[in-house]
Amino acid sequence: MSQAHDELRDLVRTIPDFPNPGIQFRDVTTLLLDPAGLRGTIDALVASVDGPVDLIAAIDARGFAVGGAMATAMGAGLMLIRKDGKLPGATIAEDYALEYGTDRLAVHVDACAPGARVLLVDDLIATGGTAMAAARLVERAGGRLVGARFVINLPDLGGSAKLREAGIEVRSLLEFE
Ligand code: PRP
Ligand code: HPA
Repeated sequence: MSQAHDELRDLVRTIPDFPNPGIQFRDVTTLLLDPAGLRGTIDALVASVDGPVDLIAAIDARGFAVGGAMATAMGAGLMLIRKDGKLPGATIAEDYALEYGTDRLAVHVDACAPGARVLLVDDLIATGGTAMAAARLVERAGGRLVGARFVINLPDLGGSAKLREAGIEVRSLLEFE
């Protein structure tokens, strides 16, 4: 791996036993705090996208920071996929299981023009429950999912494999156990 990759990886902090005992929490906030780290992360993610993208679909909450910066850099629009109960208009929602607990994501029913090319973005993929629910929402909203990008992949938890099995093109910058 390159020096640039190792420098980005070193900016991710690991906090043991958060939020539950036994979980090694990979904390992206320390990477986002570092100006060169933030810039390098967004540049590398943007460079990993091949084809045209109309909309970035960013997942609440840390996905908003990464997805918003990518959308600006790429000249794409930004679709906010929110935790349920936050959006003011008519929504569609999907339930999903987390590594620890359950939750529900929602998006405005009119968030997406029919057939728009949508790239899903989040800070991290673990079990893939969140990203799969978001992918279902993009498709139910009428979008065409062209891929998914994550800063961090925890491959041992199986999420990236799950997305690929569903036919989604997936790339991430950094991998951790
Ligand atoms: C984290 C992370 C992803 C999700 C990944 O978000 O930002 O969205 O978990 O887990 P999964 O692949 O097992 O579904 P979290 O639910 O902690 O919400 P937050 O961004 O609001 O902190
Ligand atoms: N870090 C951040 N978010 C997460 C993690 C993690 O290790 N696991 C599941 N969501």
